[in-house]
Amino acid sequence: MDKILVTGGLGFIGSHTVVELQNKGYNVIIIDDLSNSSINVLDGITAITGKKLEFEKLDLKNKQTVEAFFLKHQDIKGVIHFAASKAVGESVEKPLLYYENNINTLVYVLQEVQKLKNSNFIFSSSCTVYGQAEKMPISEDAPVKQAESPYGNTKKIGEDIITDACKVNPKMKAISLRYFNPIGAHKTAKIGELPIGVPQNLVPFITQTGVGMREQLSVFGDDYQTKDGTCIRDYIHVVDLAKAHVVALQRLLQNKNKSNNEVFNIGTGKGSSVLEVIQSFERVSNKKLNYKITSRREGDVVSAYADTHKANNELGWKAESSLDDAMLSAWKWQQQL
Ligand code: WQD
Repeated sequence: MDKILVTGGLGFIGSHTVVELQNKGYNVIIIDDLSNSSINVLDGITAITGKKLEFEKLDLKNKQTVEAFFLKHQDIKGVIHFAASKAVGESVEKPLLYYENNINTLVYVLQEVQKLKNSNFIFSSSCTVYGQAEKMPISEDAPVKQAESPYGNTKKIGEDIITDACKVNPKMKAISLRYFNPIGAHKTAKIGELPIGVPQNLVPFITQTGVGMREQLSVFGDDYQTKDGTCIRDYIHVVDLAKAHVVALQRLLQNKNKSNNEVFNIGTGKGSSVLEVIQSFERVSNKKLNYKITSRREGDVVSAYADTHKANNELGWKAESSLDDAMLSAWKWQQQL
């Protein structure tokens, strides 16, 4: 079966995507620099699929390393590119580290992809490119705005780089997937979101509070113009998101793409408030969560949830899991950590 390269394949979304690729019979090779992951994730993946899995610990910031890798693997039929730094707050403090790690690596990988016989490329983008969109739900033709953070800017720039590369190279086919908020873990609880440092994201902070690792969750503001005053997001089960990558890859492998550079929003299409996410946790865990309302967090948008018509109708993909399903999987993962 086709050989697929997954960069950042030991990360949260990457590892779940590798499982779904292997479930579909693809022959997967992973590159990861382990800067924000652990080699144990490899065991988790193989414990789930039981399939052979190639892994190379490489630093994609080194152009020669990237060239040498692709020279050895000219039979790659597609690349799913997750490798990037993704902490919004950290990107504000260390912008140059983010531009180096997220942009240089993308350029080096694309330079090799366009030389392949089959240049199929899936890019990990983010709804953060929309900033605070005017209209909800957010569709793909909503204006891409000035990024709220260097991290968000690297996703916006990444999409522009892919657009320009595809313009001059009609042989190269790319799909950018703009994720909303990925949460949860594989149902086996053998892979999930690794807790490295204090979690910035809501759901890992909730589950760590639930097991007593954190004293109390701070809800960053309840004075927004929303149903209950807290911010609205589109929380999507990471396995649904992983499956979207396989469907997008197959679209390119089977030449079903309408142009050689496509963009899809990947979300559930449903907005949930912070308080609703807390209620979901309390329902699935049967525990009361200790939280308090604090001041707003700088840079938060009030509301963001996806218009999923394009992904449903054109890509032929739809999220299947509910917020409670995703929260329960996150809770089970946390309990086994
Ligand atoms: C969700 C909501 C917070 C923590 C970010 C990135 C995005 C993507 C996903 C990479 C917000 C509130 C959070 C807490 C809280 N990352 N919150 N207390 O900010 O929507 O998206 O992560 O691609 O690009 O921007 O996700 O989970 O940080 O916050 O009240 O301790 O939960 O204010 O309303 P966000 P989040």
